[in-house]
Amino acid sequence: MSFSLSRGETIGIVGESGSGKSVLGRTIMGLHTSGPTTTIDGRVMFDGQDIQALGPKQLRKLWGARIGMVFQDPMTALNPVKKIGTHLTETLRKHQGLGRQAARERAKELLDLVGIPDPVRRLDQYPHEMSGGMRQRVVIAMALANDPALLIADEPTTALDVTVQRQILDLLAKLQDELGMAIILISHNLGVVAGRADRVAVMYAGRMVETTDARSLFTGARHPYSEALLRAIPRLTEPPHVRLAAIDGAPPNMLHPPQGCRFAPRCAYAQDDCRVDLPELRTGDAPQGRVPHLFACHHPVDRGEN
Ligand SMILES: Nc1ncnc2c1ncn2[C@@H]1O[C@H](COP(=O)(O)OP(=O)(O)OP(=O)(O)O)[C@@H](O)[C@H]1O
Ligand SMILES: [Mg+2]
Repeated sequence: MSFSLSRGETIGIVGESGSGKSVLGRTIMGLHTSGPTTTIDGRVMFDGQDIQALGPKQLRKLWGARIGMVFQDPMTALNPVKKIGTHLTETLRKHQGLGRQAARERAKELLDLVGIPDPVRRLDQYPHEMSGGMRQRVVIAMALANDPALLIADEPTTALDVTVQRQILDLLAKLQDELGMAIILISHNLGVVAGRADRVAVMYAGRMVETTDARSLFTGARHPYSEALLRAIPRLTEPPHVRLAAIDGAPPNMLHPPQGCRFAPRCAYAQDDCRVDLPELRTGDAPQGRVPHLFACHHPVDRGEN
């Protein structure tokens, strides 16, 4: 994966379950370290700092303060024996040095900001006393507590019904406008990412296989995997009882990825070279817009160019 993200910009990361989206988010945060079973290479630069080079103490200063992360599962991201207020005031007191009263005041504001009614009462409740949607909001409030420059939102709305989903996404967009933060929006749902991201990156087996703006992806996907993902979305214009086009096979084992293109074993367009050479990201011949269109495929889906 290689990309850069500016202040106020949103990149959407999409890909099926197991494609490595959460691992990417955690790696950007510096949560993975090299060990006997893990090798980390590459570089993550944040505001001029190499995250891999930071020690544990410096990392802790970054986490929750400059980089906020909404972890994938709101049910486990909260400590069941701590009150909602404690979750929020802890990070405020640690990173902003606020006193008890000031932190509580700010915690109340944060709950208000994420649309939780009656925030004063909620501060003294435990996570189990709240609904899934409310907990998801609390997790977002925690990630936003210190006005981070970068928000990594890993499936922030997956556990929610579509109405709440929309409210949360609107909220993130509003806060982004106000705070100018950059957002990495991770989702397996192309629809969630479509209207929200300036750029979309499609991930397959730990690699970026295609990236462009959402509109170009929807109308002119070049990578067979992106095309297959798009075909798997149900359409209102289809007659009832039409079967969805599934992608046959399963994602590869990332410890032993197939040689050549990692999608080749499942790809309808694969030819001999695909099973040997790993394709690099490249542009096609079409004129590039503001957001360049890159894809990693030897035999891209033909759109009148090659
Ligand atoms: N670069 C990598 N090298 C080796 N293994 C990896 C790598 N990236 C991901 N994996 C393996 O794949 C598993 C799934 O990755 P991850 O949790 O990031 O998927 P995901 O895209 O977030 O899926 P979901 O949509 O289900 O949340 C990881 O637990 C890890 O074992
Ligand atoms: Mg995940």
